[in-house]
Amino acid sequence: MNHDLGKKTIVVTGAASGMGRATTLKLTELGATVYAADRNYPALKETCDQSGAEPCVIDIRKAEECNALIEKAHNEQGKLDGLVNFAGVIKRSGLLECTDEEFDFVIDVNVKACFYLCRAAARQMKKQGTGSIVNISSIWSEIAASGVFGYCVSKGAVSQITRSAALDLAGTGVRINEVRPGETNTAMLASERGYTMSQQEIDIKLKTIADSIPEKRLADPSEIAAAAIFLLSDQSSYMQGASITVDGGYTIC
Ligand SMILES: NC(=O)c1ccc[n+]([C@@H]2O[C@H](COP(=O)([O-])OP(=O)(O)OC[C@H]3O[C@@H](n4cnc5c(N)ncnc54)[C@H](O)[C@@H]3O)[C@@H](O)[C@H]2O)c1
Repeated sequence: MNHDLGKKTIVVTGAASGMGRATTLKLTELGATVYAADRNYPALKETCDQSGAEPCVIDIRKAEECNALIEKAHNEQGKLDGLVNFAGVIKRSGLLECTDEEFDFVIDVNVKACFYLCRAAARQMKKQGTGSIVNISSIWSEIAASGVFGYCVSKGAVSQITRSAALDLAGTGVRINEVRPGETNTAMLASERGYTMSQQEIDIKLKTIADSIPEKRLADPSEIAAAAIFLLSDQSSYMQGASITVDGGYTIC
């Protein structure tokens, strides 16, 4: 499929790992100019050395750093065509155990930073009269999981950022949509489990998760990247406030 991405300038957050890295690699392969943002410089450098993307070290919890990232991409390239918000965190605690600090941390990264970046990009894109923003929620924005209370709350909020912003942006030439990934084979899936589980137990847990999915496997990050790239491209020109679920059939059972 011709995605017309070759001349686009796109900011990707969470580019040091998992889905953000896979998306950066694919976008640069398609010829796009990518500003790859993450707080983990060594891993981000690997992504950028491999892809030719521009490394941008950032803590997205700071609104001024989000504004500066969007401004840098726009000022250097004269336009900003796309933003994909992959950066995210998880804390594995349920309602009864979740501390104030854990809840704030997950909301700051997954929700407030998403707002800061959407707002900064949308302001710029509205002036241009064109642009596409892609948020990354989760199957846990639609259904709930136990033991990840703050994360589920945060992903529900990301879906509402997408829908609410879509109504504010409709008719301006700026589109905002989301990808809703299922269980995907990245560092996040195993993260935080090491406190209570051995590596062998983690491997068994991931196998159990894979077996619970109708497709009987985890998603590869490149399969989530494909949906994000479709939403960034002109091929999705009539999509506004929509969600693409990529979960191997998990949420239809
Ligand atoms: N892996 C899954 O199964 C899964 C499923 C559904 C949704 N998601 C969502 O997809 C997105 C990508 O997840 P992934 O699995 O690729 O995760 P990952 O852990 O592999 O990558 C997340 C990246 O975000 C970066 N990041 C975190 N906090 C940051 C901050 N404050 N500032 C800058 N960068 C920061 C990390 O350094 C990391 O490189 C996340 O929003 C996640 O919630 C993941």
